[in-house]
This record gives sequence, C-alpha cells and structure tokens, in this order.
Amino acid sequence: MSDPWTDLDAYHQWVWQKLQDGPRRPDAPARLLALATASADGAAARMVVLRAVDASARMLEIHTDLRSAKVTEIRADPLATLLLWDPADQLQARLNCEITLATGAEVAPLWAAIPQQARRIYGGAAASGTPLTRPEPLQAPDGMAQFAVLRCRVTGIDALHLGRDLHARARWRHQDGWHGQWIAP
Ligand SMILES: Cc1cc2nc3c(=O)[nH]c(=O)nc-3n(C[C@H](O)[C@H](O)[C@H](O)COP(=O)(O)O)c2cc1C
Repeated sequence: MSDPWTDLDAYHQWVWQKLQDGPRRPDAPARLLALATASADGAAARMVVLRAVDASARMLEIHTDLRSAKVTEIRADPLATLLLWDPADQLQARLNCEITLATGAEVAPLWAAIPQQARRIYGGAAASGTPLTRPEPLQAPDGMAQFAVLRCRVTGIDALHLGRDLHARARWRHQDGWHGQWIAP
C-alpha cells in the first residue's frame, strides 16, 4: 500500500482497515465509536461497540435496545455520525451515515449468537432512560423483542491524521465514487 499521506486511495483504505479491525480485536481503537444523532435537545452522542463491518457494502453494525433514545432519534432523522479516534496513529475519522433499524426475524440469527450473559444489556426490565430509585442489577430479557441492530451505511468520511510535521486531512463521499479530496486541517 502507498503512503496514506501521499495517496488518497491508500488513506481511504487505511481508514476502512481500521474500522474492520474493530469487531475483530477487543483492543482495536475502532471497537468503540461515538455515535452522534440529532435529538430534540441538539446533538446527542454516546459510545457504542462496533459489531460488524462490511466494507464492500460500506455498512457498519451496532447492537442496541429498541427502547433507547437513540432509536427514537434515528427514526426521526436517520442521518448520523460515527466518530473514531485512534491514539496510536493519531487518526480521527468522522463517518457520515444513514441508519436503518433491523429487528425481529431479520436479526434472530445475530441474537442467537449472543451469549446469555451479554443478552442482559438488551431489553432489561426497565426501558433505557426510565427513572429509577437506585441502580438495578442487569436482568436477562425474556426474548429478543427489544433487540435492534443499527445498520449504518457510510455516505462520507472526513479523516484527520496528526503527524508531527504534517497534518493530513481528507474527505471522501460515496456520491463522488469515493474520489477523495485533501482539505486544510
Ligand atoms: C464502553 C461503552 C460501550 C457501549 N456500547 C453500547 C452499544 O454497543 N450499544 C448501545 O446501545 N449502548 C452502548 N453503550 C451505552 C450507550 O453509551 C448509552 O449510554 C445508552 O445506549 C443509552 O443511550 P441513548 O439514551 O442515547 O440511546 C455503551 C456505553 C459504553 C460506556
């Protein structure tokens, strides 16, 4: 691969490689991303685990509770941003996405693959965001009724690498055939 700082295609591939590492390695920087959505109170951001990446379909997958605020926000406005920070390579990548929700039979095979212990984070007794008198232990849900997959189709990428003597920022858009453009940091 060419040097990412001189070749826009190599830089673009490098960002996708980082994303693909996320679901494969628990210690990969892209294991956790910040997901930002539009909410009634302005932008809302939270950490999420990147569960699957299909670069050829430009698709990233996140698991969530159907009753969470982010789902309501995505239903109202499916345009969102996923944010990656890789400290070792000093790389920030902002991913513009259009999100669709998948539930029910469509995601049953994914649910089946989630260990019982881990299922407790999707659909406990109280819906995400419900006021409580005190924190409650996690409970396994009866079924997968509240399990949802966020399918995030990437429409654009803005990446910034902070080198010691060179800051390299570039932008790519799917609608331009991922033809990249260097831009001022
Ligand atoms: C390290 C970490 C990983 C998380 N991963 C997820 C996740 O994959 N899916 C999810 O729905 N919430 C995840 N959360 C919880 C969210 O950040 C958030 O608190 C919760 O989903 C409620 O968000 P909302 O009210 O904006 O919908 C994670 C939180 C942390 C701290």
